[in-house]
Amino acid sequence: MASFRVLCSLALLLLTIPASRAVLDSHYYDQTCPQAEAIISQTVRNASIYDPKVPARLLRMFFHDCFIRGCDASILLDTTPGNQAEKDGPPNVSVRSFYVIDDAKAKLEMACPQMVSCADVIAIAARDVVAMSGGPSWNVLKGRKDGTVSKASDTINLPAPSFNVSQLIQSFAKRGLGVKDLVALSGGHTLGFSHCSSFQKRLRNFSSMHDIDPTMNLQLADALRKICPKGNTNPSAGTFLDSTSSIFDNEYFRQLTQGKGVFGSDQVLFIDDRTKSIVEAFAKDQSLFFGEFAASMVKLGNVGVIEKGEVRLKCHSAN
Ligand code: HEM
Ligand SMILES: *[C@@H]1O[C@H](CO)[C@@H](O)[C@H](O)[C@H]1NC(C)=O
Ligand SMILES: *[C@@H]1O[C@H](CO)[C@@H](O)[C@H](O)[C@H]1NC(C)=O
Ligand SMILES: *[C@@H]1O[C@H](CO)[C@@H](O)[C@H](O)[C@H]1NC(C)=O
Ligand SMILES: *[C@@H]1O[C@H](CO)[C@@H](O)[C@H](O)[C@H]1NC(C)=O
Repeated sequence: MASFRVLCSLALLLLTIPASRAVLDSHYYDQTCPQAEAIISQTVRNASIYDPKVPARLLRMFFHDCFIRGCDASILLDTTPGNQAEKDGPPNVSVRSFYVIDDAKAKLEMACPQMVSCADVIAIAARDVVAMSGGPSWNVLKGRKDGTVSKASDTINLPAPSFNVSQLIQSFAKRGLGVKDLVALSGGHTLGFSHCSSFQKRLRNFSSMHDIDPTMNLQLADALRKICPKGNTNPSAGTFLDSTSSIFDNEYFRQLTQGKGVFGSDQVLFIDDRTKSIVEAFAKDQSLFFGEFAASMVKLGNVGVIEKGEVRLKCHSAN
């Protein structure tokens, strides 16, 4: 009976995660670098004390890394003569705080040279920033290898904040992620900040019928119009993604039920029948959200993993 269930879930896994057949392992570094996770956690924790923007940035970094070419640390590679790298591509306001990963990697190279991949460092750091911000924790599966290719033009494949639910579902499905994963992982927007350029189309001349996106709460629209005035020239203007932006909680989902999602791609999750009931369930039950978020982060961490390849010596450049 038990083995039948194992077989069934294995078959399901194989059917739904075509992106990768890599076998990651939570004990991967037990022999080769037992202190790896402690080194990364300390570095991330210390950096977050000095700069409270670090947790949100590292969580977003993991998402972007895994969605482009799989979780292979392609997001860390620098632009070289003749090749513009992912980190220098659109979407507009790119990921930052790369120095934290570099610091952790430098310490890892001292402790256990050439063992821990940059892709694993990002995955562990993403777990740590969530746990450290009051969210769930989970065992990170490890054993990813680092890729050698990074292209700015690939970032076109990231979902855009203007996407509708069909487009979001399709974007996640391409990576073997389902509707529940889409909603749970969108809960990552419980942390962090957005610049005006990512949502200002919702505030004025939205459509031929509506000046303001009709799904947006009017008080929020009013506040955001003040923060992002017509012809805004302040490139750092923007807003936090929920009212408790440094705490990992279910406030993001509660805000969606009030029309207070910042991006169109957030708010549509509460409008569309395919996702609305999941939003409502997470808004009501934080521990349900935490459990599903952790499970979906493990799935996200499996996307397009490279099993045979290099462990970069420096995360900025291929060996
Ligand atoms: C569902 C599709 C998604 C879209 C369309 C999207 C879009 C965006 C956009 C436009 C920003 C703001 C960039 C800026 O203006 O500075 C942002 C920020 C952020 N996103 Fe997403 N995102 C998505 C999914 C995710 C996922 C799955 C995660 C992680 C699990 C995530 C984590 C974050 C975080 C933490 C920030 C704040 C970053 C900061 O404060 O620097 N996002 N996202
Ligand atoms: C802690 O972080 C600060 C700021 O990034 C850095 O200057 C310092 O060296 C770090 N300390 C440790 C022990 O990592
Ligand atoms: C979602 O957007 C796509 C592309 O703009 C469009 O073709 C499609 O009709 C939209 N779907 C829904 C359900 O709004
Ligand atoms: C980035 O932002 C600028 C200014 O708001 C805008 O003109 C441009 O279209 C945006 N590019 C992308 C890829 O979103
Ligand atoms: C609003 O958008 C329409 C096209 O969608 C455009 O023709 C019109 O000039 C815009 N109005 C303003 C005030 O920007």
